[in-house]
Amino acid sequence: MEYYFNLNSGHRMPCLGLGLNKVTGPGEAQRVIADAASIGYRLFDTASAFKNEVDVGEGIRNCGVPREELFVTTKIWNTAQRIGNVEEAFNRSLERLGLDYVDLYLIQWPIPGCSLDTWHLMEKIYRSGRARSIGVSNFTEQHLTLLIENSDIVPAVNQIEFHPLYDRPDLIKFCQSRGIAVQAYAPLARGAYLHREILTKLAEKYNRSEAQIGLRWIIQRGCGVIPKTVRVDKLLENSQIFDFELSDIEMSAIDSINEGYRVTSIPDDLQNILI
Ligand SMILES: NC(=O)c1ccc[n+]([C@@H]2O[C@H](COP(=O)([O-])OP(=O)(O)OC[C@H]3O[C@@H](n4cnc5c(N)ncnc54)[C@H](OP(=O)(O)O)[C@@H]3O)[C@@H](O)[C@H]2O)c1
Repeated sequence: MEYYFNLNSGHRMPCLGLGLNKVTGPGEAQRVIADAASIGYRLFDTASAFKNEVDVGEGIRNCGVPREELFVTTKIWNTAQRIGNVEEAFNRSLERLGLDYVDLYLIQWPIPGCSLDTWHLMEKIYRSGRARSIGVSNFTEQHLTLLIENSDIVPAVNQIEFHPLYDRPDLIKFCQSRGIAVQAYAPLARGAYLHREILTKLAEKYNRSEAQIGLRWIIQRGCGVIPKTVRVDKLLENSQIFDFELSDIEMSAIDSINEGYRVTSIPDDLQNILI
């Protein structure tokens, strides 16, 4: 699992990580982070909105892998952006995590009228060294352009919903052409594409699961993946995606099932203004 992106911040980010949304049961985050770390996962993705930073921090500190070998992402939520207390929100996240720094701090959603101010405050946090890299999530080309044209630092990462049922070729091309790494969230579409015929056919051909084929398709598009699971067998399965390759024809066949289907809902407070 030695596959990394070289970020524009000069740091490296693993291509594969563990998504931790909805991992909130008692002791669950600690247990799943320990299991994942023992399999080889090094990237863990949380957010203040996931309400599990305390448990995730505990898991990170006790997983048996030195902190410097791990990559921890967290994100600022919309409310903190709206009231402009970015520094305070970041400090609270660090405190809950019990860490001195995070590897990546993301703006989780673009808030019209706020994102640029938030970004300037994120740049300060980055310069303080407490976030090794800074980036965004759910940003479109327009949102990114606003930041790029009006600030010093180009986001290191754009974390977006991306999977075979929701392809984003133009946005991915835009990001990659500007040195912004794309990380796919909900890369399994929460299971929605796993029964599709083309995935099943390729799973049989390569003696893999449909999930592995879908994750591999994303990796071959040059993007990272952060599938979520709390099951050890699935942690292992989702990690075994670096030792086979889909052909160009097979990649195109998977491209063709795109139907613009999203699994994440846009937050209520952004319904009328976004995307
Ligand atoms: N930036 C954002 O706005 C944003 C939004 C949403 C998500 N995210 C991040 O992205 C991560 C992943 O997204 P997600 O959790 O929404 O969806 P996902 O990773 O696409 O799917 C997770 C679901 O798939 C199941 N699963 C996992 N591996 C499987 C496999 N090999 N075969 C069959 N089923 C499998 C999991 O079940 P079990 O857990 O029962 O195994 C879970 O129900 C989140 O955890 C979060 O870190 C970010």
